[in-house]
Amino acid sequence: MSQIDSIILTRPDDMHLHVREGVALKSVIPDTARQFARAIIMPNLTNPVSTAKMAQEYRDEILSAAADTDFEPLMTLYLTDNTSAETIKEAVASGIIKALKLYPAGATTNSDKGVTQIKNIYPALEAMQKNDLPLLVHGEVTAPEIDIFDREKVFVETVLIPLMVDFPELKIVLEHITTADAVDYVSSAPATLAATITAHHLLMNRNAIFQGGIRPHHYCLPILKRETHRQALIKAATSGSPRFFLGTDSAPHAQNTKESACGCAGMYTAYHAMELYAEAFDKANALDMLEGFASDHGAEFYGLPYNKGSINLQRKRWQVPDTLALGDEKLIPLRAGEYCEWQLL
Ligand code: DOR
Ligand code: ZN
Repeated sequence: MSQIDSIILTRPDDMHLHVREGVALKSVIPDTARQFARAIIMPNLTNPVSTAKMAQEYRDEILSAAADTDFEPLMTLYLTDNTSAETIKEAVASGIIKALKLYPAGATTNSDKGVTQIKNIYPALEAMQKNDLPLLVHGEVTAPEIDIFDREKVFVETVLIPLMVDFPELKIVLEHITTADAVDYVSSAPATLAATITAHHLLMNRNAIFQGGIRPHHYCLPILKRETHRQALIKAATSGSPRFFLGTDSAPHAQNTKESACGCAGMYTAYHAMELYAEAFDKANALDMLEGFASDHGAEFYGLPYNKGSINLQRKRWQVPDTLALGDEKLIPLRAGEYCEWQLL
């Protein structure tokens, strides 16, 4: 088979993205808008986006930061113990809320206002199910006795499976999956369940966290897993199954907050997201599966039209900058100073 050196895809969507707010938002939005037509915007701001009114204001801020583009932010709300059926009614009425996000309390960045007991949000989940509003889950349990590498598997077994039984019609996205256990469950579960997969979990295993020393820029949540899990993710992403689609989980943090005695979780991949995914699919000899994963399956799951226009990726080695700007601070992209094998034209 001859080598493929260039591919054209329908403009893709990033179905899981953190863009922050204020000057940081202004710095990062162009990176996403250059590649993606739309993105599902995560609501975990310092003051979480938990009402339709807050989402409206946040959407306006994003649109003004992306003013010279046709980028469309798809808004989400952050579920708290107090999210009521009334909040869901208002979300539906707003017309701009595409999903609600469940952060188990303490699971990750700005998750302290997250849900402490899933039963607390059952009235909200019932209203979501009735209105066909998807639930997005950060699928990790946070109990201190559970090993950090087992958090996702235990979440699937103890939280997700019972939830699917109690809400058989609720659309659920298990976000940024990292394990063969999650792949197996999503593949065998009813079609109301789908999953996003990041570029970093496709490209790296947990050795990357300790490559020659401790690497804060390779720390994210869910944490990188062992190689067998990475291989299961590659198989799922390149399978053509509509249940798996692209979500970068690109999560900008200023350099000093990552390179610290208690560094923040998150990798910045929005700068070169499609190039990283192209490399992962190319290594698996599955470039022909990239368009479904990046441009079709997410739109289908969310009931959105396919995007117009296309992007072109070429096999070409280029060097990732050492630093980017994040407002007045510095942002270290994944692979800073190293090379990518594919380039967006
Ligand atoms: O690594 C992560 N960073 N995982 C998350 O779930 C949240 C994100 C962030 O917002 O920084
Ligand atoms: Zn995230």
